Amino acid sequence: MATVAETRRRIESRNPAHLDDLVAEVPLSDPEGFTEACRAARAAQHEWESVPAPVRGGVIKNLGRLVEQNKEALSRLVTREIGKPYSESLGEVQEVVDTCDFFLSEGRRLYGQTVPSEMPDKQLFTFRTPVGVVAVITAGNFPVAVPSWYLVPAILCGNAVVWKPADYAPALGEALTSLFHAAGVPEGVLGLVQADGETTFGGLERALEEGVLDKVGFTGSSAVGREIGALCGRHLQSPCLELGGKNPLVVMPEAELDLAVEGALFSGFGTAGQRCTSLGTAIVHESVHDEFLARFTRAVEEAPVGDPMREVLYGPMIHERFHERFLGWLDLIRDHHTVSGSTGTGRITAANPRKGFLGDPEAGLYCHPTIVDGVMADDDLYSTETFGPIVGVASVGSLDEGIELANGHGYGLSASIYTSSPKHAFRFRERVSAGMVSVNNSTSGAEAHLPFGGNGKSGNGSRLSGIWVLDQFTRWQALNWDYSGKLQKAQMDVAELEADLGYRLDWERPAPGSP
Ligand code: UN1
Repeated sequence: MATVAETRRRIESRNPAHLDDLVAEVPLSDPEGFTEACRAARAAQHEWESVPAPVRGGVIKNLGRLVEQNKEALSRLVTREIGKPYSESLGEVQEVVDTCDFFLSEGRRLYGQTVPSEMPDKQLFTFRTPVGVVAVITAGNFPVAVPSWYLVPAILCGNAVVWKPADYAPALGEALTSLFHAAGVPEGVLGLVQADGETTFGGLERALEEGVLDKVGFTGSSAVGREIGALCGRHLQSPCLELGGKNPLVVMPEAELDLAVEGALFSGFGTAGQRCTSLGTAIVHESVHDEFLARFTRAVEEAPVGDPMREVLYGPMIHERFHERFLGWLDLIRDHHTVSGSTGTGRITAANPRKGFLGDPEAGLYCHPTIVDGVMADDDLYSTETFGPIVGVASVGSLDEGIELANGHGYGLSASIYTSSPKHAFRFRERVSAGMVSVNNSTSGAEAHLPFGGNGKSGNGSRLSGIWVLDQFTRWQALNWDYSGKLQKAQMDVAELEADLGYRLDWERPAPGSP
């Protein structure tokens, strides 16, 4: 008779650069498994909350040091499991270390406030209290950095967490979880659930219904974010939602064009365009459009693409799913568009080669970089998040037109402007709807201690990272303590000092004793 484990579905994770390399094979949970993990977290949370915050901070310090010690091994696994170029993987793992370094001392702060009371012999205070049990569901394009943005502060703040990593990055889920446990995070305080999206949603529904889940953090598509938002809303909860983007990069006439091209190259094609901060559309002033396009095209044509363990701009698509979807996005190219950037479009193969490709394209899932010029506001390509190596270019006559195009699709994650004019930079900052704005820098590559998040279709206004994420994983509790020995009623028993509100200055009259 088959055991429970044997009857469970399993998922294979394969190296997208070498599809014959099986990275991991893990059993997938069912909705009950997810709910059970939330129950276990509920059981562990109170004890964890009572560990003094500076001691919890010590665990985060251990984690940072452990990740540092395992930096190369973890980075190699990032490259192996999702195909990110090794240099970018090192950067991603460094982001985990930076996050730990920031939060290890937060255990010694987690400040509340003392607030003056309107009555004598009464004191007012605020305290940050943990939310409780947090479910974190993350994407696989940043399989360790983005999870750490949730897990590190959530655990530091005294919550217990159930983490569901992307089902195409299960080995990284296990690796990062094992580092947390080795650092001293108790098993029950961080539970790992390997599951697909549907199972996770079912598990969330049950856990919320049962009252064993207090907060959901989700990084992924706007469509799924909407569903999670609706589900949490029915339980009067506000999730932390970090969703998609169609990030604009505006190039003004006075911009340093080579710098703008470098920014567009990195943000458009780094990670094969599979960051939520990746460049969607370069919006270029008409007076420099042709020159920008020529230089951008040259830079993309010359950029090395290939084996992610070599010096490349980008490697494979992170998973078959993204590869398939990307090929679909290419259908959004219309007759009025002009395509450039490579020796072909779609999948790179022996029959559809990319000039200068490094390695064997057919061993993995590689796609040609594609620049699409002539993008207009009513094109699907303008308003669709096309996770992959494709960048649109649009031409505008003014900054105002550029801002309109930067906002018009309803996403609002990251936006960039290349200019030397403070007036242009600040006007752009004021009017652009993005949560994150860059001046003379690309749309991707946010530092780990600034608020990260978006508006509109990119999120519900929640912010990760830095001090701002504390509001996601703690609730403010207000305390008032009256030691006057009587009931002093707020607003009603407040002393009023006498004043002469009819008093007016009168310096027009001559000074006494003047002639
Ligand atoms: C993401 O793509 O989900 O700002 C996160 C950046 C990275 C994080 C991206 N530090 O591009």
